[in-house]
Amino acid sequence: MASSFTMNLGNLLLLAASFVCVSAQINPTVQILNDLRLARLDRLNRITPTISKRQTTTTFPSFNFTQPLDHFTDTGFTWNQRYFVNSRHYKPGGPVFVLDGGETSVTDRLPYLDTGIVDILASATNGLGVILEHRYYGVSVPVQNFTTDSLRWLNNEQAVADSANFMQNVQFDGIDADLTAPKTPWIYYGGSYAGARSAHMKVLHPDIVYGAIASSGVVEAAISNWGYYDIIRRAAPANCSAQFITAQKEVDALLSDPTTNSKVKSFFGMPGLTLDADLTSFFSGLLGAWQEKNWDPAVNSDEFANTCTAMGNPSTAKIQTFQGFTVSNATWNLATIINKTSSRCPATSTSDECFGTLDDSDFQETDLSQTWRLWQFQVCTQWGFFDSPPPSSSIPSMLSKFVDVAYSSKICQQAYPPGQFFQVPALPNIEDVNKIGGFKIAHDRLAIIDGEVDPWRFDCAHSFISPSASRPDTPLRPFKLIPDAVHHYDENGLADHSQEPPAIQAIHAQEVEFVKGWLADFK
Ligand SMILES: *[C@@H]1O[C@H](CO)[C@@H](O)[C@H](O)[C@H]1NC(C)=O
Ligand SMILES: *[C@@H]1O[C@H](CO)[C@@H](O)[C@H](O)[C@H]1NC(C)=O
Ligand SMILES: *[C@@H]1O[C@H](CO)[C@@H](O)[C@H](O)[C@H]1NC(C)=O
Ligand SMILES: *[C@@H]1O[C@H](CO)[C@@H](O)[C@H](O)[C@H]1NC(C)=O
Ligand SMILES: *[C@@H]1O[C@H](CO)[C@@H](O)[C@H](O)[C@H]1NC(C)=O
Repeated sequence: MASSFTMNLGNLLLLAASFVCVSAQINPTVQILNDLRLARLDRLNRITPTISKRQTTTTFPSFNFTQPLDHFTDTGFTWNQRYFVNSRHYKPGGPVFVLDGGETSVTDRLPYLDTGIVDILASATNGLGVILEHRYYGVSVPVQNFTTDSLRWLNNEQAVADSANFMQNVQFDGIDADLTAPKTPWIYYGGSYAGARSAHMKVLHPDIVYGAIASSGVVEAAISNWGYYDIIRRAAPANCSAQFITAQKEVDALLSDPTTNSKVKSFFGMPGLTLDADLTSFFSGLLGAWQEKNWDPAVNSDEFANTCTAMGNPSTAKIQTFQGFTVSNATWNLATIINKTSSRCPATSTSDECFGTLDDSDFQETDLSQTWRLWQFQVCTQWGFFDSPPPSSSIPSMLSKFVDVAYSSKICQQAYPPGQFFQVPALPNIEDVNKIGGFKIAHDRLAIIDGEVDPWRFDCAHSFISPSASRPDTPLRPFKLIPDAVHHYDENGLADHSQEPPAIQAIHAQEVEFVKGWLADFK
C-alpha cells in the first residue's frame, strides 16, 4: 500500500526515467514538468510497494473470468478479470491457493507465483496456484476512463464480491475437475491492502474461503497514519532519526517565521513556493524509502540507507547559508539532498509549477493511463492513511507539522470533482473497513502475519495501538510477527529456498505447517 506502495525520490526518478522513453518527442521543458508532476503525484499518493524488481523467467498462462460491473445492481455491463495459473504442482484432490493482486497490475505479483509464497504452499500440498488481478488494476479495467463517476465501482464491497464469484465459478483450463469453492478448499493470500482483503474474505465468506493468510494486512483503516513515521523513527539508525528530527524541527521553525519563510524555500531550491507543505512533503518522501527495504538483495532498495549516509551524524556546528540565516548540519545536508530534485525545475517555470499542489488541473486528467487515480480513490473513499504528525508534541516527529491531514487529503477534492452519480466524501468512510473487525479481526483458519519494523504495522493487527496485539498464536489462528521484517516479507521467495535468511525460511515453514494442518481437517 498503499502504498504506497510509498514512493520516494529514488522511485520517482526511476519512474521519470521510464517516462522519458515513452515520450521522447515532447519538448524538454514540458518533459521535465511532466516528470516533476508524476513525482509529485507519487509523493502524495502513498501506495504500497510492489516487489517486481526480481523478474520471473517462467511464463504462466493468463486467463479471463467474466465479472459483472456491479454485483448489486444489474447494469448489463461485464468485464474481464485476469488471472494467472501455476499448475506445476497440481494433483487431483489438491487445494487452490489464490493470491489477491491488490492495488497494482497482477503481473507485478508473478514472482510470488513462481518462487514465492504461492509456489511454496502449492508445492507442499499438490495445490494449484492462482494470482488474481483486482478490478480496475492492470488490464482488469471495467470502465472507459477514471472519472469520479467511472470509479464508483472501485470499492471493497465490489472487490469482495468479485473474489467470491471467482472462487465459486471459475473453471480452470486443462483441468478436468470442478475445483470451485466450497467443494475444493481454497486458501486466500494477500499482502498489505490485499492482506486486509484476505482477512475480509475469510470473515465475510467463511463458507467459500476455507483458509486465509493476511500478510501485513492493513486491517484498521485510519484517517491519520502518523504511526507509520513513528515506526520508522524507532527502527532506523538512531543518528539518522536524530538528524531528521533536528532538520524537520528547524525547517518548520524557519517556515513559521515570516522573516525566513521565503528564504528557507530558496535554500531548498524552491524560491517563491506558496505552500509550506509543498516543501516539507519532500522529507516524508525520503523517509518512505524505509518501506522499500527487502531481505532479497535483488528486490531491496538502498535508498533509505543512502539518505541516512547523506544526512550525516549529529553535530553542534552551525552553518551560514547564502540566504543569510544559519542552519544545523542536518538541515544543510537535507537541503543538499532535496536540491538534487529541486534543481531540475526549468528556469522558465515557477516553483509552484514544478512542486506546488495548488493547481487542480494537475490532478484532473482522467484517461486510463492515470493509474495513480485508482489507489488514491480507494484512499479517499474508504481507507485514509493520510500523512500527519503525531497526536502529541511529546512524541518526537520526523514529519513536518505542515504535512497534516488537511494537506494530505486535499488531493481527494482536487482530483475527484463531484460526478453526476458519485461524490467523494470530505473524509473517507473508514468505518466501511473497520466494521469488518479492524485491529480485532479474527477467524478460525485466518492467519495474521506482520513485520516487526514494517511502518504499515501501525495499521495491522500487531499495531502498538491495537487492543488485541498480544493474542495467542495457535495453529487455528496463527498470529506471527516476522523479526526485523518490513512489508510482507513472507510473500517473496528464492528459487533456492535454502538461500533465504533463516527468519524467512522459518516463516515459510510455519505457513506450510499450519496450512497442511488446516487441509487435514477439510471435510
Ligand atoms: C482477456 O480479455 C481482454 C480484454 O479485457 C482481452 O484483450 C484478452 O485478449 C483476453 N485474454 C484471453 C486469454 O482471452
Ligand atoms: C467517461 O466514460 C463514460 C462512460 O463510458 C462516458 O459517459 C464519459 O463521457 C467519459 N468521460 C470522460 C471525461 O471521458
Ligand atoms: C540549493 O539550491 C539553491 C538554488 O541553486 C541554492 O540557493 C541553495 O543554496 C542550495 N542549497 C544547498 C544546501 O546547497
Ligand atoms: C556536515 O555533514 C557532512 C556529511 O556528514 C560532513 O561531511 C561535514 O563535515 C559536516 N559539517 C559540519 C560543519 O559539521
Ligand atoms: C552517531 O553519531 C555520533 C556523533 O554524534 C558518532 O560518534 C557515532 O559514531 C555515530 N554512530 C553511527 C552508527 O554512525
